[in-house]
Amino acid sequence: MSEFTEAMRFRHACKRFRDEKIPQEQFDEILEFGRMSPSSFGMEPWRFIVVTDDALKARMRPLCWNQAQITECSHLLVIAADNESVLPGSDYVERMFKRRGLPQEALEHYLEVYKNHMTPRFHSREAVEAWTHKQCYIAAANMMTGAASLRIDSCPIEGFEKAEVERLLALEKAFSVALLVAFGFRLDEQPSHHRLPLDAIVERR
Ligand SMILES: Cc1cc2nc3c(=O)[nH]c(=O)nc-3n(C[C@H](O)[C@H](O)[C@H](O)COP(=O)(O)O)c2cc1C
Repeated sequence: MSEFTEAMRFRHACKRFRDEKIPQEQFDEILEFGRMSPSSFGMEPWRFIVVTDDALKARMRPLCWNQAQITECSHLLVIAADNESVLPGSDYVERMFKRRGLPQEALEHYLEVYKNHMTPRFHSREAVEAWTHKQCYIAAANMMTGAASLRIDSCPIEGFEKAEVERLLALEKAFSVALLVAFGFRLDEQPSHHRLPLDAIVERR
């Protein structure tokens, strides 16, 4: 079995964590898995807010369907999206293309393609968030599977009151919370995975 398959099998949405902290270097490696994730046009619209403060976790828990993972995990990661830097015409967008070291003409071409592609899609704040949050989920997936490769557990959490969590964290208006991921070490053995068979989800043409 490949190491990747092993990590996929190890990973479960862990509901209960034991009282053990993830060593700093290992958590930094998990953050690195997020940092290295792909994003559309390479915009990296994610920002990672690492919550380890027990008092803050305790205030977050009632806003997150009172889920035990929020307070029991070692590190609670809030994946926030930046919904303003990515707007066509911003300095950020230009910087993200410029770092590729493109000749001026190619840079202008990329900026134009980005503007023409994104402007009609970014017709509302919700539409911008739909796009930035998709990128955040890719980073989350890599961090969870990457953590599993280190035998560290995780739970993705969409069960939270978005506006209230954003208010509690005093996020600037550019930012929105895409999802939370709790990381730590499992308290119990994990149940078997339930998955549809490949035949049910794959169509070959
Ligand atoms: C985007 C997303 C949001 C989720 N939100 C929650 C959540 O709020 N609480 C929870 O306990 N599990 C949550 N889950 C976990 C799923 O229920 C779980 O992944 C699924 O049932 C399959 O189980 P497994 O991951 O253990 O194989 C979420 C999963 C995803 C992908």
